[in-house]
Amino acid sequence: MVQACSYSAFSHIERCHRVKILVIGSTGRTGKHVLTQGAERGHEITAYARRPELLTDRGRLAGVHQGDARDLDAVRSAIQGQDAVISAVGGSEIAGTLITAMRDTGVRRMVMTSSRSVVATRPRLAVTLAWLFLRAAYVDLARAEGMLQVSGLDWTIARATMLNDKPPAGRVHTDFEANATGGATQLSRADYAMALLDTVEDPALIGKALGICGPK
Ligand SMILES: NC(=O)c1ccc[n+]([C@@H]2O[C@H](COP(=O)([O-])OP(=O)(O)OC[C@H]3O[C@@H](n4cnc5c(N)ncnc54)[C@H](OP(=O)(O)O)[C@@H]3O)[C@@H](O)[C@H]2O)c1
Repeated sequence: MVQACSYSAFSHIERCHRVKILVIGSTGRTGKHVLTQGAERGHEITAYARRPELLTDRGRLAGVHQGDARDLDAVRSAIQGQDAVISAVGGSEIAGTLITAMRDTGVRRMVMTSSRSVVATRPRLAVTLAWLFLRAAYVDLARAEGMLQVSGLDWTIARATMLNDKPPAGRVHTDFEANATGGATQLSRADYAMALLDTVEDPALIGKALGICGPK
């Protein structure tokens, strides 16, 4: 039977099948898949967006909130009453606002997107080049990860490899290492969304940083 459950109350071995999820970055290329797939799984999905007019298929959503993810009052009001937050947009300013709003409202479960490049050391050339061009973004993502790790919330960090918009494979490779232990260097955003939803449903992943690659 499909049951509702709250992350602050449910057991650490029980999988969560029907939850109220606020999706930040909901009009983005990953976020839109989280909305669609989350609704298909039976979750009550609420979209948070700066430009909600970009949302398609609003009929399947439990709610829509307009606002910037750095606006504490707007975020707090959207988070109130949710079971979990999936942030399909990264960055320390957004992470800080979400953490404060979640503490204020007592919502504990958060899955935050990040990049494998924040921690990877291999393949050496690709990682060096990525850091050469995206250093500021990775430093900020590392700061966001650190903030979440000491937040006291029920967090999971979902570090993706290189994203693309190809059709989903329906499978991903996951690990808990800095460097990928397998899988492909490219990951479709639809599969990333699937992994984010799998993660938010799985209490065994609380307090973990997960690396996510495409399937081989
Ligand atoms: N691209 C990659 O290869 C790659 C690799 C690893 C990890 N990632 C991570 O994966 C995540 C998803 O990537 P993506 O390419 O699917 O994202 P995306 O298409 O760029 O979408 C980002 C979303 O975040 C929203 N957003 C940005 N700043 C916001 C703010 N201040 N307040 C509210 N909403 C805001 C954007 O809304 P607007 O339309 O209003 O701007 C958009 O809906 C990101 O966290 C990224 O860091 C990406």
